[in-house]
Amino acid sequence: MKNILVIGSTGQIGSELTTELRSRYGGSNVVAGYIPGAEPKGSLAEGGPAAVADVTNGGQMDDVVRKYNIDTIYNLAALLSVVAEQKPKLAWKIGIDGLWNVLEVARQNKCAVFTPSSIGSFGPTTPHELTPQDTVQRPLTIYGVSKVTTELLSDYYFHKYGVDTRAVRFPGLISYVTPPGGGTTDYAVDIFYAAVRGEKFVCPIAEGTRMDMMYMPDALRAAIELMEADPARLKHRNAFNVTAMSFAPENIYREICRRKPDFRMEYQVDPLKQAIAESWPDSLDDSTAREEWGWRPQYGLGSMTRDMLEKLAERLGKQ
Ligand code: SER
Repeated sequence: MKNILVIGSTGQIGSELTTELRSRYGGSNVVAGYIPGAEPKGSLAEGGPAAVADVTNGGQMDDVVRKYNIDTIYNLAALLSVVAEQKPKLAWKIGIDGLWNVLEVARQNKCAVFTPSSIGSFGPTTPHELTPQDTVQRPLTIYGVSKVTTELLSDYYFHKYGVDTRAVRFPGLISYVTPPGGGTTDYAVDIFYAAVRGEKFVCPIAEGTRMDMMYMPDALRAAIELMEADPARLKHRNAFNVTAMSFAPENIYREICRRKPDFRMEYQVDPLKQAIAESWPDSLDDSTAREEWGWRPQYGLGSMTRDMLEKLAERLGKQ
């Protein structure tokens, strides 16, 4: 990876991935791709070049890739699961028509491509405990349908055209920088904002509903380490199960209470989010990623909670 384009650089993952890539590869070598209305600001704008790169416009992406001599594309354009249910056609347009454009630009310009999949690529008939790497993927959400298609189309471009496509299936991602929007796992971020602000948290996911989660520093490492992995070791490509922890709302609530004993949570279950959450795995088996490219998470529930509370308090000026 010498010259990198991050598509969706101002989003939940992109905003932090762009910064991390710039610290590793040099600011001028990482282009922050964005769509009008979501321009990079602050350190993201100052830390290196930025360009409009809309996945629905293949010609525009091609211009950016040629101008900056891009060899690696991180394609992070997506709608999350809940908002995708409200706008299924747009989810397809961004997730699949957009991916097609990205893969074509990559094929023509010989770029490697990372387009994340998700725990959302699994469905109710997938084994829920220690979900294997290769298993049933029959999701019921449009988000899941687009993620399974993403995996298949990315593998297709690798086998047919030799495009170096690689990806992970991200679990719910927790960070204190850019909040997620419209996801099923968002509660695990929102709960920290309530705790730091001293507010009661109303949880939309029912007690006992376990899902895989990961702290953002681990997620960034997963994306970068996979793209740097020796291709000779990769038997799989799109996409690897990765996880760092699996918890239900009461587990994270108790963990926060260890540091904030006055924190209170009540349940007001959102039927759509709950149905989606129940269709997803309780815990992933990520042994294939560990074997093929040495994946290891660094943060568990305790260490992530401690860091989140400290960093979010600093960020919200509540210390
Ligand atoms: N975090 C995503 C969502 O909840 C899942 O990958 O939609």
